[in-house]
Amino acid sequence: MIFAANWKMNIGPSEARRFAKAFVEAVPLQSRREIWFFPSAVTLTTTVKAFRDRPDIRCGVQDVHWAPDGAFTGAISVALAAASGATLALVGHSERRHLFGESDDETGKKVRAVLEGGLTPLLCVGETLEERERGDTMAVVLRQLEMALAGLEPEQIRRTVVAYEPVWAIGTGRTATPEDAARVHALIRASLVDWGATTPKVLYGGSVKPDNIVSLLAQHELDGVLVGGASLTTATWSSLVAKGVEARLTPQ
Ligand code: 13P
Repeated sequence: MIFAANWKMNIGPSEARRFAKAFVEAVPLQSRREIWFFPSAVTLTTTVKAFRDRPDIRCGVQDVHWAPDGAFTGAISVALAAASGATLALVGHSERRHLFGESDDETGKKVRAVLEGGLTPLLCVGETLEERERGDTMAVVLRQLEMALAGLEPEQIRRTVVAYEPVWAIGTGRTATPEDAARVHALIRASLVDWGATTPKVLYGGSVKPDNIVSLLAQHELDGVLVGGASLTTATWSSLVAKGVEARLTPQ
């Protein structure tokens, strides 16, 4: 099970140090789940250092450029991310797609670059409200997956983790029902298996909070969650992780 925190454009280095200190005290080392942090690029090294004694915690970047190097002001290559201690990279987050105009094709180039650079991609897919209301959820998710993963070797597909984040559920307080999420997860899982994955991991994201984590994780199609707002304080994030772990260990 994976609990992933996307800090987006929040939390600078000194706040990250304070966060990590309190978090490692509140959340003991456990082998049954991993906790992933995606801090801002300027906070990455501090976060990596702060969690260096915790093998259950990994850190990554929120975005990468697909080129190995060059004149791309403001962008970060996979090699630069790795050199700063990242072992993960978010790719195709809906905010990159919809606010910054990232195309399906660009997302695909990023996934390939991340895999070739030896990092684990966490590929995000998900439909907008308009697409959902048109009944296009499955078609959109499938298109995003196909465009992102086209031409990859089965070994690369096996290393790719996918997050289903319906755009209308992000930061809005609205979540997909656990059953709706599970249906989309089943489609994603089946596609990944078709393309060579053996035990695909699919996370859910979009207004996940301590008070809905238990019902979401009751769906065994969810291998974990990708969380924005509720990962920004030690109190909410540690409570969400604790409740989530307990939900999976206690049969419903
Ligand atoms: P919220 O949890 O704030 O809805 O954000 C979800 C998200 O975008 C995580 O990547």
